[in-house]
Amino acid sequence: MPQHPDQYIPATAAVAHIRTLTSISPAIGIILGSGLGAFASQVESAVTIPYADIPHFPQSTVVGHSGKLVIGTIAGVPVAVMQGRVHAYEGYPITEVVFPARVLGLLGCKTLIVTNAAGGIRSSLRPGELVVLSDHINLTGTNAALGPNEPRFACTSTAGQRFFDMSTAYTPSLRALSVQAADNLGFNLTEGVYLAVLGPSFETPAEIRAFRTLGADLVGMSTVHEVIVARHMGLDVLGLSLVTNMAAGVIDQAIDHEDVLEIGRNAEKQFTSLLTAVIPKIVTSSFF
Ligand code: HPA
Repeated sequence: MPQHPDQYIPATAAVAHIRTLTSISPAIGIILGSGLGAFASQVESAVTIPYADIPHFPQSTVVGHSGKLVIGTIAGVPVAVMQGRVHAYEGYPITEVVFPARVLGLLGCKTLIVTNAAGGIRSSLRPGELVVLSDHINLTGTNAALGPNEPRFACTSTAGQRFFDMSTAYTPSLRALSVQAADNLGFNLTEGVYLAVLGPSFETPAEIRAFRTLGADLVGMSTVHEVIVARHMGLDVLGLSLVTNMAAGVIDQAIDHEDVLEIGRNAEKQFTSLLTAVIPKIVTSSFF
């Protein structure tokens, strides 16, 4: 039988340690994907905590994931930004992969913003383009809520259930306000369905053709498990993908992790301006 170690007590230990280092209570948690870590430099009054210093926090082994938790404010909103994540393909059990998302929930975040680098399946997408996630297809073969249910992770009175709804996993109002914010900034933000694979190999062209018929617009190796536990905890979710390459076989070009990072650096300005515009809107839309 697989082991499903209880993550609640370790997560409370991580939260207790973080609270000794800052008195800021973050309202929004942000997980930065491959090549998108530079956004953390936008955080004001920042307290930066290496993952290695936080009890039980997993360490990323991937280039482009620096492994720091940055707590401070953006546009006056208290945030906790994870600069880098761990992935199941690194060999971590799924409970470890989602441990940081659990910690963000217990820290008091009401909204989780998940970001990632993704391959574009929809042929109208272009490398460098941002996409707001409307839904996902989890083909990783596992589920982050596997194991005994832990209702103490609930952040709202109705959350923490054994079986929980995923029909609006990506909060519709947050999708709409992101599209509006992009429009105000002068660019077109389309929605897309993100399909998650385990990795670490990129996909074959036949797999990508199959994924297209399943309704996927984007493919990647992260995000869905963090979204699953966020919904288990009752958090609102906003997902943003940066298309770093066209998926296998969509164009006649091999896929390279260096390109993924390079596109991330180039898209940094648009990504930063979008997130900086969206963050204060999330708070005003949910509290007033
Ligand atoms: N496939 C899977 N994950 C990815 C890709 C891809 O093409 N690009 C960036 N992450």
